[in-house]
Amino acid sequence: MNERSLVLLKPDAVQRAITGQIISRFERAGLKIVAMKMVWIDKKFASIHYPEHLIPIVGKKTLADWDDMGIKTKKTAEELGVEIMEDLMNFTTEAPILAMVLEGIHAVSQIRKMVGHTSPHKAKPGTIRGDFTTISMGFATQRRFGGRNLVHASGTIEEAKKEIDLWFKSEEVHDYKTVHEPHVR
Ligand code: TYD
Ligand code: MG
Repeated sequence: MNERSLVLLKPDAVQRAITGQIISRFERAGLKIVAMKMVWIDKKFASIHYPEHLIPIVGKKTLADWDDMGIKTKKTAEELGVEIMEDLMNFTTEAPILAMVLEGIHAVSQIRKMVGHTSPHKAKPGTIRGDFTTISMGFATQRRFGGRNLVHASGTIEEAKKEIDLWFKSEEVHDYKTVHEPHVR
């Protein structure tokens, strides 16, 4: 149950200078920062972090948004997915990312809850995406500017393990005690 998750504060969070406010929320919840660094990734690295199997998945999410927005298209989820991934590669390489590993009880699912829905217009108030932005993925795809939803958080424990290995060397991840720990034994 004590889990680790990869959290990325994406270029929009860094450029908007709200990384401190976002990190505070995780600290307040008792999540322990066990690794952190600022990295300016290139497109090759971005395409490893966001692999090709996401193409139809992101395409479908945009199609669902467009349906809500009343936007009609002849494009398939696959075709839209290719455009979305191109925009995502541009967006995630336009400024540095603040990468971190957070640890805590049920950390993976808890962090996803705190981050909120992928498309900020569907993210509830109180979540990071819901409180700090209002765009939709559908809007971002239509304007071709990349889904600026501020934060990446691993989706599952398996994804977290893979992503932490991709972003951090084992000696960059630290073991130490926080004052929260006696209260969550
Ligand atoms: P995904 O893994 O579906 O979402 P999450 O980050 O919530 O796990 O998608 C990965 C990223 O792709 C998402 O955070 C932002 C970007 N994206 C777009 O740019 N446009 C889109 O239409 C979608 C669905 C995602
Ligand atoms: Mg995901």
